[in-house]
Parts: sequence; structure tokens; C-alpha cells
Amino acid sequence: MKKVVLAYSGGLDTSVCIPLLREHYGYDEVIAVMVDVGQPEADIKEAKARAEKMSDRHKLIDAREEFVRDYIFRLIKANGNYEGYVLGTAIARPLIAQKVVEVAIEERADAVAHGCTGKGNDQLRFDAVFRTTDFDVIAPMRELDLTREEERKYAQEHGVSFESEKRWSVDENIWSRSIEGSELEEPSFVPPEEIFQWTASVANAPEAAEIIKIGFKQGVPVSLDGTNIDGVSLIKKLNEIGGKHGVGRTDIIEDRVLGFKARETYEHPAATILLVAHRDLEQLVLTRNELRFKAFVDNTWSELVYQGLVMDPLYDSLNAFVDKTQERVNGSVYVKLEKGTARVVGRESPDELYSKDVSFDVKQEQKGAEGFSMYHGFQSRLAGRSRIVTKNKKGGKEK
Ligand code: ARG
Repeated sequence: MKKVVLAYSGGLDTSVCIPLLREHYGYDEVIAVMVDVGQPEADIKEAKARAEKMSDRHKLIDAREEFVRDYIFRLIKANGNYEGYVLGTAIARPLIAQKVVEVAIEERADAVAHGCTGKGNDQLRFDAVFRTTDFDVIAPMRELDLTREEERKYAQEHGVSFESEKRWSVDENIWSRSIEGSELEEPSFVPPEEIFQWTASVANAPEAAEIIKIGFKQGVPVSLDGTNIDGVSLIKKLNEIGGKHGVGRTDIIEDRVLGFKARETYEHPAATILLVAHRDLEQLVLTRNELRFKAFVDNTWSELVYQGLVMDPLYDSLNAFVDKTQERVNGSVYVKLEKGTARVVGRESPDELYSKDVSFDVKQEQKGAEGFSMYHGFQSRLAGRSRIVTKNKKGGKEK
């Protein structure tokens, strides 16, 4: 009795994997695992119905809270951003893969499987987690190279029909929504308004701006307009408010792990707001040295997450550093939402490194700065010795 546990989304690729795992790979039992990281409810319902029809058994795991607590909060603390992408799909894959592995252990399965193709990043992210175990790893879509048409026909033969080609390929979780495929692959193609579902266009955003206040504790957002709120609810709420104002659209050329460039479109109102607010608060409470070093850490963190390498020991080390810096990231940030933009318009913190002692309005002993100023740029001047301006020959070269 050979058993395989499949990461199941309900889409065409993963649905086709179910009969393939039986007929082509010879498994007797296919267990479909759906992991809820905040996909639309309708998608999950549809996936459940399909899994019921096609698989031997299926499981739905609600991982939304864990996703936000263990992954999104970390991302905020590390200002997660890869080439302008807020890492929505990337950060969800390791958790989904981990849940599949947990079921495989429980079920004493022989193998784990995913439906990713050999072109994208997701295969790497699934494989990386799967291969921390000794389960066989199967990726039918990557191995068999079927066309969409062949897939649809094959699904039909197994009692499940898929409407003929959806125009866009969408991946969605609570943090972001990615829209890819068909004409969008062409970098010069201007996306029609219909691809966006979370965000209003700037034209349709209200004229009136709105200022919201986000409270942070140790780098984690914990309140909205002075009221404490859990992470899942906060992100949902900010997606709504920000989306209404047209905040959080990205259209970029992205360097995939395998090396090729891809045109990507995303929407992510809550991510935009929280990242801009968090970054601003850090600027108020961290030292210049910390900020400079942390920018490098953040960047490395983001690259690891993009590659799905959260099992690399470096990931833990970076998180340990980040957590240490976040001890002082407490306070509130005021963000103004207006016609497609989220701008910080104020901030406050009990840990601020801002000092009123150097304010314009305070009489202050300035003499001390004189010595500092005298040596400021000493090396720079020496290096430019030959171009020095003399009193006699203004602008001329000293002979
Ligand atoms: N380019 C993004 C990434 O690599 C989004 C990919 C969307 N994935 C998908 N299966 N539709 O994370």
C-alpha cells in the first residue's frame, strides 16, 4: 500500500496530479492537503469539493494565524522586500510545504508531492522543505511537461471539468495577490483594470484622504487607531482601507531564482502600509549604525525568503539579529492614505532617539562643535590638496 501526500490548491495543475499519482506513479492512496493561508473562501470551498471527488482523502488545515505570527510578522520586522516585491507567494510556500510534511509523517506516507512546474520559483521552495525529510519527492507537472489542453482533457476523463483557460493566473493569500499569465507576460502590455480586485484605481479612490495610526510593539503591529487588534484582523482591515484608497499596486520586472526575468503584477495594500510604517519607526528608534547594518541584513533575509531557504541556518541567525534590534521598535506611526499613496505623516515612540535638546529653539553651547568641524573632512581635503583654493588666486591652482 503506497501512500502519497499532495500539496493541493484546487487548481488545474494540482487536480491533474491526483490521478497521475495513481496511474502514472503507482500510488494506491493520494491524500490531498489544502493549507489555508488566507485564500478567498470561494476558492477553498471549490478546492474542497474537487478534493472530495478526486482524492482518496483530503485535509484542510487552517494556518492563517500561524502564517501571520511566524512568517508575516518576521517579514515586517525584516522589512521584507525583494526587488520591490512584498514576498507574498514566497513567504507562504515553506509553511504550506511544512504542513504537508507533517501530514505525511502522521500518515506514515511514502512520498510527498507538489504541482509546481519546472519554470518558476515555487518548485524550489517546496522541494527545499520537502528535502529536509527522506520522503520521496514527486513533481508530476515538472516531470511530465503536459500542455494545459492535455491537462484539461485528462481532468475531464477523471470526472472534473475546468472552465476553458482562465485568462490570468492568480495566487492569493492574506498578505498579497499576484496576477500573472497570458498577455501580462509581455513587459510592455498595459494591464486592464480587471486584473485588480483588492485595490481601487487612483481615479476611483475617494478624494478625501484618511489618516490611520498604527501601533507597534517590538517591531510587530499590534493596534489600529489606538485599539488592540490581532494580526489576521489587522491585515484584513488594512487591505480593505488601503485598497479603497488604491494603495499597494506593484508592476515590476523580477529576477527569478533560475535567472530569467519575469513581469509580475501584485496588489498588497496592508503590506504597503505596514512596511512603510515599520520602516519609518525604525528610523526614529534605531541608531545610524544599526540602520545601516540592518539594511544589509534585511536584504539578505529577503533573498533567502525569495529562494525559499528558510531552513538555512543563516535564516535563524538573521532573525536573531533582527529580533534583538526590534526590542526598541515600539510606538505609533500616522499614515495618510490618499489617491493611491500611503505616506507617513507623523510618528512617536517611548524609545525615540530624537532629542529636543538640539532643537532650533533651544539655546545651546555650540562651541564644542567647532573642533569637530575643524577636522571634519580632513582626509578629503588632503586628497584634493592640489586643487586647493588660495586667498590670492581664487579658483586658481597653487604654484
Ligand atoms: N513571482 C512571485 C514569486 O516567485 C509570485 C509567483 C506566483 N506564483 C504562482 N504560483 N502563481 O513568489
